[in-house]
Amino acid sequence: MLDRYMTACRNAQPTIATVNPGPRAIAPGTALRYDTKMATNPLRPDLDPFVLARTLSGSLLIDGKLCSAASGKTFPVVAPATMDTVASAALGEADDVDRAVSAAAAAQPGWARIAARQRGKLIAECGRRLGEHAEELGRLVALETGKALRTESRVEASVLADVFLFYGGLGSELKGETVPFNPDMLTMTLREPLGVVGAIIPWNVPMMLMALKIAPALVAGNAVVVKSAEEAPMAVLRVCQIMNQVLPPGVFNIVSGFGPECGAPLVAHPKVAKITFTGSVETGKAVSRNAADKLIPVTLELGGKSPMIVMPDADLDRAIAGAVTGMRFTRQGQSCTAASRIFVHASLHDAFLRGMKAKVDAMKMGDPLDEATDIGAIISKAQYDKVSRYIALGSETPGAVAHRCSALPADPRLKQGLFVQPVLFSGLTNRHRVAREEIFGPVTCLIPWSDQDDVIGQANDSDYGLAATVWTRDIGTALNAARRLQAGFVQVNQNIVVQPGLSYGGTKQSGLGKEASLEAMIEHFTHKKTVIVNLGP
Ligand code: NAI
Ligand code: MG
Repeated sequence: MLDRYMTACRNAQPTIATVNPGPRAIAPGTALRYDTKMATNPLRPDLDPFVLARTLSGSLLIDGKLCSAASGKTFPVVAPATMDTVASAALGEADDVDRAVSAAAAAQPGWARIAARQRGKLIAECGRRLGEHAEELGRLVALETGKALRTESRVEASVLADVFLFYGGLGSELKGETVPFNPDMLTMTLREPLGVVGAIIPWNVPMMLMALKIAPALVAGNAVVVKSAEEAPMAVLRVCQIMNQVLPPGVFNIVSGFGPECGAPLVAHPKVAKITFTGSVETGKAVSRNAADKLIPVTLELGGKSPMIVMPDADLDRAIAGAVTGMRFTRQGQSCTAASRIFVHASLHDAFLRGMKAKVDAMKMGDPLDEATDIGAIISKAQYDKVSRYIALGSETPGAVAHRCSALPADPRLKQGLFVQPVLFSGLTNRHRVAREEIFGPVTCLIPWSDQDDVIGQANDSDYGLAATVWTRDIGTALNAARRLQAGFVQVNQNIVVQPGLSYGGTKQSGLGKEASLEAMIEHFTHKKTVIVNLGP
């Protein structure tokens, strides 16, 4: 498999091969205009994201094999830093979903019969191999998402393996219980896999968010079909290809395509027994409604509008640095836990704003593949327009000031790129739309406060309840706030991303269920069967 891949890399043509192109297809022979020389060093072909993206073009991965969509159609994969088409992805539709689900359904009973610890070892082996491929995966995801390699994409690729190593060790934890029901009956519970799990994933951290779904699903004995995000189908396809060097065919399949044509048939497929979804609230609710028609469980990781509360005794420099990391400016703010409402005690507000602006100004926006770049491009034109509309809305609000930070890239090769200057708003309140709705871009609001009860009330006055942070030197203040904040993930004096081993997931409109932990695997990817053995004569 690997040899075949390397040969394919070497033979990759400078144009995209499309099989019987359909309406959304790229015309055969379309030149790939993204200038390979932009990558800082000449790369080995297997690390060159342009070569990789072309090599993987036009493919789904079903039953252990790369294949084209039944229709032969493809859609363009666009690098947001230049708006050049760098690859084509197979346009999966209902019949492709059916092929993938059927392969998964055929493979699942055999997979579930492998001893749980052994399944875990295979998943850990996948983690080991993904670790070996981290650099190429980082470059590929940087190219297709526009996330800077050094600050984001390489980080995503290098922590990916850890999720598989963590879950790989948990096979023997799929335990049931014995129940003291009756002395003459031995009563026990068994944890059994659900069958075929459908996973629908977004584009912001595509490999990592996919891993949080498929690693526990697979260790628990399920087979999976992933529907990748239309904006970022390539890196996750490569992850699937690497894992298929280890896993039996059909256990992990991936289809690319659009929501209504490819995601919806996956949810509706009669053989899919569970849906796990990360994305927008609106789509999550639609998925949930469709799943309800089949009465299957769903896990939903949706949006956020996460508050950061800076108490008057906070370490100012530490809080400012935490706001910059917490707002995920290096990911263009495209994070569901972004610190997009920063409640700063009035006594610190102006110094905080100055300090934060200086730090973000010092960040370099540019080519995602350049090692010097801190901030890359927004994922798509639609998302760029959405972010721009919110910036305009905030700027037009009387009393509000948009503090624009960092300089747009000067490089002429990036002039079509979807770059947005990070914006810190002052003068908006928690009632304004910019402070209430998820923007999913590099935009945050600084809101001064003076009463502690009132600021907790404002922080909780949100449709969302994903994450929150509190910044203080006082343990009582910290614990009191942590108890009262309505969120699934609360941190004090830091704002780090999801970690293997820690339950992660929101309340209110932020979703249903948890990810990333042992409990998440047991509660969301198995069902509990009760068995009673009558010991009487
Ligand atoms: P989306 O929720 O529409 O897309 C997420 C996934 O759902 C994609 O794979 C998409 O193809 C799929 N999908 C879309 N319609 C579907 C349907 N009817 N049935 C089944 N699957 C379907 O998110 P989108 O459009 O990419 O972004 C819109 C907003 O969503 C963003 O501006 C942001 O606010 C939020 N978002 C939140 C994320 C998170 O991590 N919580 C990730 C991505 C977006
Ligand atoms: Mg959408």
